[in-house]
Amino acid sequence: MPSDNTSKRILLGIGGGIAAYKSIELVRHLRFLEAEIVPVLTRNAARFVTATALQAVAGNPPRSDLWDAAAEAGMGHIELARWADAVVIAPATANLIARLANGIADDLLTTLCLATQAPRFIAPAMNTKMWEHPATRRNVARLSADGATLLGPADGEQACGEFGPGRMVEPADIATAVWRAIAAPAVLAGTKVLVTAGPTREFLDPVRFISNRSSGRQGFALAEAAQAAGADVTLIAGPVQLPTPAGVERVDVVSAEEMRQAVLARARGADVLFAVAAVADYRPAQFHERKLKKDESWATRLALRENPDIVAAVAATCELPLVVGFAAETHDALANARKKLNAKNLDAIVVNDVAVPGIGFDSADNAVTMLHASGETVLPKMPKRAIAQRLITEVAALLAQRPAPAPAVPPVAAKG
Ligand code: CTP
Repeated sequence: MPSDNTSKRILLGIGGGIAAYKSIELVRHLRFLEAEIVPVLTRNAARFVTATALQAVAGNPPRSDLWDAAAEAGMGHIELARWADAVVIAPATANLIARLANGIADDLLTTLCLATQAPRFIAPAMNTKMWEHPATRRNVARLSADGATLLGPADGEQACGEFGPGRMVEPADIATAVWRAIAAPAVLAGTKVLVTAGPTREFLDPVRFISNRSSGRQGFALAEAAQAAGADVTLIAGPVQLPTPAGVERVDVVSAEEMRQAVLARARGADVLFAVAAVADYRPAQFHERKLKKDESWATRLALRENPDIVAAVAATCELPLVVGFAAETHDALANARKKLNAKNLDAIVVNDVAVPGIGFDSADNAVTMLHASGETVLPKMPKRAIAQRLITEVAALLAQRPAPAPAVPPVAAKG
């Protein structure tokens, strides 16, 4: 079974509930994080998702039978239990939770769960009444007391038509929770990270502005991933409709000038700046206090001024160990990005081709290349959160290669 030292090895236990069809999606999300997956199906799970489909996405044949002599000869169940860095059970049905809570080992999955010392993540999925039943409440409490991490369930409409708690947490959220716990081993602990995100707005009058299509999602995902990796994160956000990631300090700004001031006020002492914001290059030369009227034919007299370059200013003056720029290009993406890397004196630049449909603007996915002095890293199309998590790993490695700062010279004590 292929595996290197950095990829995480995950046993994905799949219970027999309707949400089992989402396990295909969950495998995809875990694989974006470079995890190696062995799916393990309960007997009933095989009614909802096929071994063929799972094998295709996981790249490893699913296991299901404790008595499968051929599979056991390849890697026996105790060996498999030792192999895992984490066990993720999604969906976990009421019955599976009951068996796990009581230490019953009557199939391959429950046997592995007893034999493993790896952390267990459990994403329940069941009818609301089953979830609220005192027996399930007792079993869940016991599993938590035994050290398992419960992920959800989420509230909402269920396959049976009822509303309430019992829906399986979305695959992307399960993957992120597992990544936080096992794959982001505080690689940025003790560091201070600044992230700029979103567009800026450059007002002409109280109702009109110049801006761009940036949604802020990639920057917010980076702030979330940096925080998960142990950093102290400040997110300087242009006008976007996104919730603040947990544990992240957010500073809202509107114009490029406000963003510049917010960044420069916080850049000294920071370790990394991710300049993800799509800063407007120009602003109207003059702001009009009153709304301009059409008959003033303002459009034909519109004068623009260039905005200051924030990331270049930080790279030139703030002595940060790492300054990472972002570039959204429509043509000659790599050549343009390399020019910006050099012109702005950045340590790295992450470039995406926004002319490619399905990535970048207005999309949950992205595909990027990170260029830096010692090479380039290509990340194929995947969700922006997964891109962010992979970039954090790359940037932590770049940061670790930096020479340690010279020790401060202690002040000479005055004599006399
Ligand atoms: N950037 C910045 N301040 C600006 C413009 C850009 O800090 N006034 C940063 C962005 O946050 C990004 C990088 O510079 O990290 C590249 O942004 P981009 O808009 O692609 O670069 P420009 O220099 O504006 O180039 P272009 O001619 O492609 O608009």
